[in-house]
Amino acid sequence: MFGRIDHIGVAVEDLDAAIALYETSFEMELVHRETVDSQGVEAVLLDVGDGHVELLRPLGPDTAVGKFLAKNGTGLHHVAYAVDDIDATLPRLTAAGIRLIDEEPRVGIRESRVAFLHPRSTGGVLTEIVEPAGGH
Ligand code: CO
Repeated sequence: MFGRIDHIGVAVEDLDAAIALYETSFEMELVHRETVDSQGVEAVLLDVGDGHVELLRPLGPDTAVGKFLAKNGTGLHHVAYAVDDIDATLPRLTAAGIRLIDEEPRVGIRESRVAFLHPRSTGGVLTEIVEPAGGH
């Protein structure tokens, strides 16, 4: 069903400090930076192999990532799996008993189409399905 791990999402308070860690200490290349209004975040993508690390800074305390930070502090936020056809994948997940946060795909980073699955139905792991917009 899933092609590969597209990225892991990391919630951060200080985006510049996090970028310095991943760029300088881990020698990953920053390839994209974008404010994703639909997710209430400023997001940065860094390349690692054919996957990415996605650093997420909330735009405010009332956003999903803002609430996550208030509850859990900084750290791993979600894992994202790449699929070729998100419209075909979501009904299969529903049929398999997985609860969707997003019934319909929404626009994610770099004009991808994404949907989140509820962590209560995925063993506590917030899971994102992403259909990249062409050669992610
Ligand atoms: Co993500």
